[in-house]
Amino acid sequence: MHQRVRTKSKELLSRILPDSGKLRYLAHLPALESWRRHHASGYRQFPRRYQLYDYVNSELLGNQSIQYLEFGVHKGASLEYWAGINMHPESRFWGFDTFEGLPETWRYFTGRVDRGQFDLQGCPPPIEDHRVRCVKGLFQETLGPFHRRTGRTPCRRRSLLVHTLRLDPV
Ligand SMILES: C[S@@+](CC[C@H](N)C(=O)[O-])C[C@H]1O[C@@H](n2cnc3c(N)ncnc32)[C@H](O)[C@@H]1O
Repeated sequence: MHQRVRTKSKELLSRILPDSGKLRYLAHLPALESWRRHHASGYRQFPRRYQLYDYVNSELLGNQSIQYLEFGVHKGASLEYWAGINMHPESRFWGFDTFEGLPETWRYFTGRVDRGQFDLQGCPPPIEDHRVRCVKGLFQETLGPFHRRTGRTPCRRRSLLVHTLRLDPV
């Protein structure tokens, strides 16, 4: 009896509730929170992104030569910071961006950032370090040719490949 009631309730809910990203987000919050509580003592937490970068560069990478690829550069805050803390002369820092702003509107739980936001009129930020290069265009169009052109892979260059995944706080 219980099982039938449960099945019927689920059927009903699936018909009346919208297929919504917001609902999915809310539904997963408790699991995320209990994961956080369970693991909180087991990993380092950094209130500022720059503290995380410092930690990764000095503690994990030992300031050795890296290939740093950043997807979404805007004015180059992170890119420039990385070039400032990793002083190895053989390191290279690549910033991928259109420099024409978001190609599509970014919707998140509490708001949105419109298409075109972060537009720099196609001009990459002036970063005065010869190890830094910008690759202009959409990631999905520039990454493949970049790899074919430079042959940069972690194995062939015998240096570490550092990927940063930027998660903007919302
Ligand atoms: C939030 S900003 C990046 C901020 C930067 N990481 C920092 O440290 O300050 C996002 C950037 O991603 C770029 N962008 C988003 N989607 C892109 C895509 N598919 N191809 C190229 N650039 C993209 C936008 O032009 C924008 O400059």
